[in-house]
Parts: sequence; C-alpha cells; structure tokens
Amino acid sequence: MADLTTEFLGIKSPNPFWLASAPPTDKEYNVRRAFEAGWGGVVWKTLGSEGPPVVNVNGPRYGAIFGADRRLLGLNNIELITDRSLETNLEEITRVKKDYPDRAVIVSIMVPCEEEAWKAILPKVEATGADGIELNFGCPHGMAERGMGAAVGQVPEYIQMVTEWCKKYYSKPVIVKLTPNITDVRFPARAAKNGGGDAVSLINTINSIVSVDLDQMAPEPTVGGKGTHGGYCGPAVKPIAMNMVAEIARCPETHDLPISAIGGVTTWKDAAEFMALGAGNVQVCTAAMTYGFNVVKEMISGLSNWMDEKGYTSTQDFIGMAVPNVTDWQYLDLNFIAKAKINQEDCISCGRCFAACEDTSHQAIEMSADRVFTVKDDECVACNLCVNVCPIEGCITMEEVPAGQIDERTGKVVSDQYANWTTHPNNPSATAAE
Ligand SMILES: Cc1cc2nc3c(=O)[nH]c(=O)nc-3n(C[C@H](O)[C@H](O)[C@H](O)COP(=O)(O)O)c2cc1C
Ligand code: SF4
Ligand code: SF4
Repeated sequence: MADLTTEFLGIKSPNPFWLASAPPTDKEYNVRRAFEAGWGGVVWKTLGSEGPPVVNVNGPRYGAIFGADRRLLGLNNIELITDRSLETNLEEITRVKKDYPDRAVIVSIMVPCEEEAWKAILPKVEATGADGIELNFGCPHGMAERGMGAAVGQVPEYIQMVTEWCKKYYSKPVIVKLTPNITDVRFPARAAKNGGGDAVSLINTINSIVSVDLDQMAPEPTVGGKGTHGGYCGPAVKPIAMNMVAEIARCPETHDLPISAIGGVTTWKDAAEFMALGAGNVQVCTAAMTYGFNVVKEMISGLSNWMDEKGYTSTQDFIGMAVPNVTDWQYLDLNFIAKAKINQEDCISCGRCFAACEDTSHQAIEMSADRVFTVKDDECVACNLCVNVCPIEGCITMEEVPAGQIDERTGKVVSDQYANWTTHPNNPSATAAE
C-alpha cells in the first residue's frame, strides 16, 4: 500500500491533507476531532495581536454559488481572523500539539506591519511547540482595510520585510500565505523567498461579490441592508489556484520554493493535481465546511488507491511530475492534429454539440433528419467545445490524426515533426527553424 506520509519543510504528517486556517481550525475542540478523523495537519485559524480580539458581524457572513443540483461550487465569506483571545488560542495550541506529536500544527499569524508587533507575538507562538508559522498576507476583507492581510500581500517589499522579521524572531519554518488578488503571483512569491521564507502557501480567498439581493438592492451576504466584498473559495477557485501554483513551480527563481497548495481541494484527485503541479501538500477549507471532517477519509483512500494503481510508493514519486509539461502557448505543437468523434451508441440526440459547433464554433457537426449527429472531419478544428457541452461523459472524444495521414480540413499530410509558433511562417517575428 502506498505511503502517504509527507515531510514538508521537515514537518512530518501521516498524509498530505492539512486543514487550512479558517473556521475548521479555530479551536481545540475542532482540531482534536479533525485529527481523530484523520487529517494530517492543521493551520490554526489566524491569530492577531494581544488585546481585545477583533469583532465579527452578527448577521450572515457567507454567500454562495451553486451548481444545478445545489452542490456548493463557490463560497464567499466576510469573516475576520480569530475573535478569541490570543491567550486562549495559545493554550489550546500547546495542548493539542502535545497530544498529537505526529500531526503538523502550524500557527497562522496576522499582526500590524510593524517589527515590534511581530517581535512580541513570535516568542509566544514558538513556546506552544507548534511546528511552524504561516503568515496571513491574504485576507481580502476587514483586515486589509486596517493595513494587514492582502494589504501586505499586495506589496512585495512588505512581504519581504515582514518575512525577514519572522526569520529573525522565530526559529522554525515560516510559510508565507499569498493572496490571489494581484496580477502576477511570481512577484510576491519571489519576495517571500528573498525574505528568507521557507515556503509559500496559496491561495487565500479572491475578492468577490457573489450575488445581489434584488429586493434589498444590496450585495449578499447582506447585513442590515448593506453588503461588502468578501473572500471567494471552494471548487470554483481551483483553476485559478492551480495556475498560480504552476507559475511559481516553473519560475526559475522560485522553482525550488516548497508550496502548500490551497483552493477548492474537495477530492483526492484535486490534491493529486496540485501535487503534480509541484505542491508538497494541500490545505482544505471549504470541503471540510461543506461535508464535515470525515471527508478526509475519502481523500486518503482515494489517493492511496490511485497511487497503488500507478505504482507510486510515496508522494515524492509524483510531486512536480506535471511541471515540465506546463509551457507557454508559443511552444505548443502546431503539428498535433485531432478530430472530434461522436460515439453513436452513447448519444442521446440532445443536439447540444450541434448548437455549439454550428452557432459558435466551426459548423463541423451535421444533423440528419432523424437527429443523428456526425462530425465533418473536413471542417473540424478540434476545438473541443462539443466535448465540453455534451451532457454524456465520454460520448464525444478527441482522436489524434496520426502522422502520415491526411488532415481532411487542410488537405495536408500530418507531419511527425514538432513545430511551434516561434518558427511558424505566419509569425512575423519567427526565428529560423534549426
Ligand atoms: C470562513 C472562512 C474564514 C477564513 N479565515 C481565514 C483565516 O483566518 N486565515 C487565513 O489565512 N485564511 C482564511 N481563510 C481562507 C482559507 O484558509 C483558504 O485559503 C481558502 O478558503 C481557500 O481554500 P478552500 O477553497 O479549500 O476553501 C478563510 C476561509 C473561509 C471560508
Ligand atoms: S471539436 Fe470543435 S470544431 Fe470539431 S466538431 Fe467539436 S465543436 Fe466542432
Ligand atoms: S451533445 Fe452529446 S449526446 Fe447530445 S447530440 Fe451531441 S453527442 Fe449526442
């Protein structure tokens, strides 16, 4: 059976599934039950400075986007960092770490962007015996307006400066949690590395308004007739998070920076995808909030079964394996030719592929009088739209046209040579092919 043990920054955990800093990890009661359910580690709900804790709204704090079956696809929240006292949290962290030495316990921190504030809290966190810290440079709402969270994460110089303070006053691993509310994630990632950060984690939530109450004429969640932007997370954000993880993993300056991936992880497959793109482990929030702590059991068994099938004995066997295959558009092989093929036995004649191709693609699907749908190879550009709109999975497949055969659309023989845009004759700045 595959070994799911992971060692991230030297911190061992029995599996790569950690709970992200959020409501699932905001108290001892939760974290103990999470560990009993099987989670490999937790990032404790973000701690703030000593003194009166922050105050959350007393109205609704979540908005959501649903699929047609009311499955939660995206969650939006306006919650702040922990609203429990620093002292209580530190006591609980100490007890939990002592009782679960084999699990990763990371403490998330967000204090003002002043050296004294970090200098004051870091020794207290170190005294808990927790395995490391995560710097919350990501919260997009509430705290950002107070000069913390995303307000720091959007300025690489601040990221570097605070990370340096943390390395100065704290001896264990420092993970820098990045905000996606920026243009190019490689800048904050480089700043984290330059500041001495041991790893980055991403993504925190995305600025968003998920819906508008058209009776109150206010964004939702609506608190006393007003709404504000919140942080978006859940399955809907996974593609954005994966691209950002891949960008950091393949950037020459940050490719060796360990990554803890966050954003929409709901199944073992999501985790495997993030890890193939270079993440050493994953963190989960929305899936635990939607399905409860036991969701980790399926993640563990699913990942383990898949690894057995593939012959991977450890997570190290596949971490980063997809990174060399992430490239820029201009390097894609223009001599790769495919055509859509409709499997008539599975087709239910709904006509969606026809409508999509006829109205918005390449008029490459023919509909007969008795509603039999077939692809015209001499028109199909292999865009794949029909595959994505077909309600029957696997009913339409993309079939490669082997080298040596004629592409009926162009009338040319398919070449077995790789050729990309950089050398293409239509490219005004093409370089001569070697
Ligand atoms: C209600 C809620 C509260 C959150 N609070 C924090 C927090 O205190 N600190 C933090 O770093 N991230 C916080 N997050 C962000 C999550 O840790 C995570 O980055 C984000 O939800 C994306 O992961 P997911 O798609 O699995 O939910 C919060 C998320 C939610 C939904
Ligand atoms: S792949 Fe694109 S062009 Fe080809 S049949 Fe499907 S929708 Fe039409
Ligand atoms: S969308 Fe799929 S099921 Fe519907 S007609 Fe096309 S191939 Fe058949």
